[in-house]
Amino acid sequence: RRLYVPEDSGALAVGADAVARAAEAAGAEVWRTSSRGLFWLEPLVEVDSAEGRVGYGPCTPADVAAIVAGTPDHPKALGPMDTLPYLQRQQRLTFARAGLTRPLSIADYEAHGGGAGLRAARAMAPEAIIQAIVDSGLRGRGGAAFPAGIKWRTVAQAAGELKYVVCNGDEGDSGTYADRMLLEGDPFLLIEGMAIAARAVGASRGYVYVRSEYPRSVEIFGRAIEVARAAGWLDGFDMEVRMGAGSYVCGEETAMLESLEGRRGVVRAKPPLPAIAGLFGRPTVINNLLTLAAVPTILAEGPAYYRDFGVGRSTGTMPFQLAGNLRFPGLVERAFGVTLRELLFDFGGGTASGRPVKAVQVGGPLGSYVPEEHWDVPLDYEAYAVVGAVLGHGGLVVHDDTADMARLARYAMAFCAQESCGKCTPCRIGSTRGVEVIDKLLAGDERQESLLRDLCDTMKHASLCAMGSMTPLPVLSALNHYPEDFRR
Ligand code: NAI
Ligand code: SF4
Repeated sequence: RRLYVPEDSGALAVGADAVARAAEAAGAEVWRTSSRGLFWLEPLVEVDSAEGRVGYGPCTPADVAAIVAGTPDHPKALGPMDTLPYLQRQQRLTFARAGLTRPLSIADYEAHGGGAGLRAARAMAPEAIIQAIVDSGLRGRGGAAFPAGIKWRTVAQAAGELKYVVCNGDEGDSGTYADRMLLEGDPFLLIEGMAIAARAVGASRGYVYVRSEYPRSVEIFGRAIEVARAAGWLDGFDMEVRMGAGSYVCGEETAMLESLEGRRGVVRAKPPLPAIAGLFGRPTVINNLLTLAAVPTILAEGPAYYRDFGVGRSTGTMPFQLAGNLRFPGLVERAFGVTLRELLFDFGGGTASGRPVKAVQVGGPLGSYVPEEHWDVPLDYEAYAVVGAVLGHGGLVVHDDTADMARLARYAMAFCAQESCGKCTPCRIGSTRGVEVIDKLLAGDERQESLLRDLCDTMKHASLCAMGSMTPLPVLSALNHYPEDFRR
């Protein structure tokens, strides 16, 4: 009997290896796959059946012998995976293979639709590939939502023989793990997306920048590059993976270029745009990992197919990453337009603590705290901008009613002080002053509130990059929506 056991870090952290060993000891053939992203069910074990794969979870080694023996009515039985509402209600394009394939098997990848995008792109002129990306409406998934096709066209039209594609996999936002899941679980998807981007813009070399906290991703992705190279996928293009050194601001594109060039991650002033003068001064496509991972589907299925997901100018799907105080944390890929309320309750099942949800930070440590009055706003870039929030990289961190929003606001300033690259004054000095001002406010000096608002205004408008300019979002959203927490 064959058992499928994930080898994603999330599954390993809760004992998937021990479950796999127990399955082998019980005489099963074990295939180590990627994760479905249903983390409360890990370690999740699956078995083939007439109705497709059936699941059991969360499993311990003691559960496995009965699964191998095919005992009916197993207490951990979940039924056919395809019938689980958590999966049925999703629109998985980028994560279509999550939990199904063995990460380093090109045969598995192709058997589940992989490779079709690159084959299509190889039959197209570079400008036609760019036009397909423009027509799809794909926008940058790192948070800034700049149209990917326009960026590619800028690089394609920039002067110079030597051009680069850089993938930003410095996934530093709180509560996010989509990049990690793809690096570890579906690496050929990213390789395919980068090979397509390289062909479109005329790049000969690619770099994937991965945060140092993901050593397993670096190792698996490095091996995937070797497999892809041997399979002839990297025709006229080569790539490598580079590990960051543990700095949040290295996710900012120009600090990342500094880091890739071997220097400390300090932000560069723009212009010039990296698209004109990026890595080693050459025209460079820099895309978030999720942006590049969306590309193969667009080429394989056509831009209209992709564009028809989503709402308004937010086309396609977004892998939302549910984290924090939730019963059912996991990866939910849905078209833009889904609401926070659906994600929190229909998918997340409410808080793990059983208490009411108080605030949700959407878009990482520099994202706004979204209060209940905005949980029915569709998750799309424009609608979120109207309520003063951001989608960022699609991470959600949920807090129950025990959260102290003043403490969280202080934490945002302290985080900025810790991670600031130091290049500009509003962020370097402002964040430290911000912590002090919040401390005085909480000590009862109410005059400090207007000072805090002035400081946030300066940071927002005068900082050189998003680190300083976005830190006011969590601070002011906490202050505006939960003022009672600031009155001690
Ligand atoms: P930006 O709006 O300055 O630029 C967005 C992208 O478009 C950049 O790659 C830029 O080089 C490119 N671009 C702009 N104009 C262009 C043109 N005419 N031609 C070609 N390319 C062009 O935003 P930035 O500073 O790159 O990122 C800020 C965003 O980052 C924020 O909105 C925030 O949501 C997000 N963010 C993401 C984090 C994460 O961990 N994923 C963390 C913090 C912030
Ligand atoms: Fe550096 Fe902060 Fe200025 Fe960004 S805002 S350039 S991180 S000092």
